[in-house]
Amino acid sequence: MKILGIETSCDECAASVVEDGKKILSNIVATQIPFHAEYKGIVPEIASRMHTEWIYGVVKEALDSASLKPGDIDAVAAAAHPGLLGSLLVGMNFAKAFAWAVNIPFIAVDHMLSHLYAPHLEHDDIQYPFLGLLVSGGHSIICRADDFDNITVLGTTIDDAAGEAFDKIAAHYGLGYPGGAVIDKLAKEGDPRAYNFPMPSLHKGDHYYDLSYSGLKNAVINQLDKFRSPENTADEDSLADIAASFQKTAVDILLRSLFRAAEDQRLSTIAAGGGVAANSYLRDVLSKRQDLRCIFPSLSLCTDNGAMIAGLAYHYLLRGEVSPLTAAPSARVRSFKRVQH
Ligand code: KG4
Ligand code: ZN
Repeated sequence: MKILGIETSCDECAASVVEDGKKILSNIVATQIPFHAEYKGIVPEIASRMHTEWIYGVVKEALDSASLKPGDIDAVAAAAHPGLLGSLLVGMNFAKAFAWAVNIPFIAVDHMLSHLYAPHLEHDDIQYPFLGLLVSGGHSIICRADDFDNITVLGTTIDDAAGEAFDKIAAHYGLGYPGGAVIDKLAKEGDPRAYNFPMPSLHKGDHYYDLSYSGLKNAVINQLDKFRSPENTADEDSLADIAASFQKTAVDILLRSLFRAAEDQRLSTIAAGGGVAANSYLRDVLSKRQDLRCIFPSLSLCTDNGAMIAGLAYHYLLRGEVSPLTAAPSARVRSFKRVQH
């Protein structure tokens, strides 16, 4: 079965055709990043307008590059939540119109569940249950996955998301937007032990697996003043040191909660997703753990894409769970349970 997956929850306008939840026949991603970069963040109004202009061309390219026509598609899926409402509406409404015109089922899926599904597109042997690490610009979630749609949140951020901290720090240091990949690259030339940035102290109980980035973000941003002061002459080396030290602390915050959860839940497989899962230091540390199997999607499937939407939708279709054409988007995370400590 060939499913067209459409992803417009944020600033990527993406469409993909995936066969039987596995085989990627096409995967087109048109990024709006250059159009938001001058504002150092995503402008929702610009995002939804650009999706409106681009969505037809992106879907057409996804079909053309798979040598398919609309009539060859068995179902069409779109991200319905969480995300920017105006952006989600564009992808959902295009998908609904496509489904109506071709007379095929429409399936609304959760963007975060789709990120967690992405590793399945490249690996056949991921067994449930496993530990999920979902880290993006908007969310930071450590969860237990018992099935593709049976997810229990063990820990989440109590303030900023991990990617948001990378983005905000990069913006303050004038490194551009988004900040994750830039800081990652710069950190390779720096000393991660040059600065001692604080780890949040969240104790056993409600916050045991939770994450917090506002303290670290403020400490690194305050460093800017020191960095600029006359007695601390700014040079490229110290900027690279700040990037490396921040990145190490930011990733160590994730790893501390992740390793606690792996031990307590007795789970030895970790599947990561979301833009921050592209981080090279995170990948490096996790890949060296002999006691854990860490599965990372390739970089193009870590960040937002339509293949993860189409792949996940296949499993709903198998169960006969399709969505009405009246389905509405939602800005908030749905479909996840929160663990009771
Ligand atoms: O999942 P994603 O493409 O979009 C959503 O937020 O849903 O994630 C984008 C986030 C941005 O905050 C970006 O700075 C971060 O992922 N990111 C990274 C890296 N590449 C992208 N963060 C750390 N290291 C990276 N290499
Ligand atoms: Zn995402």
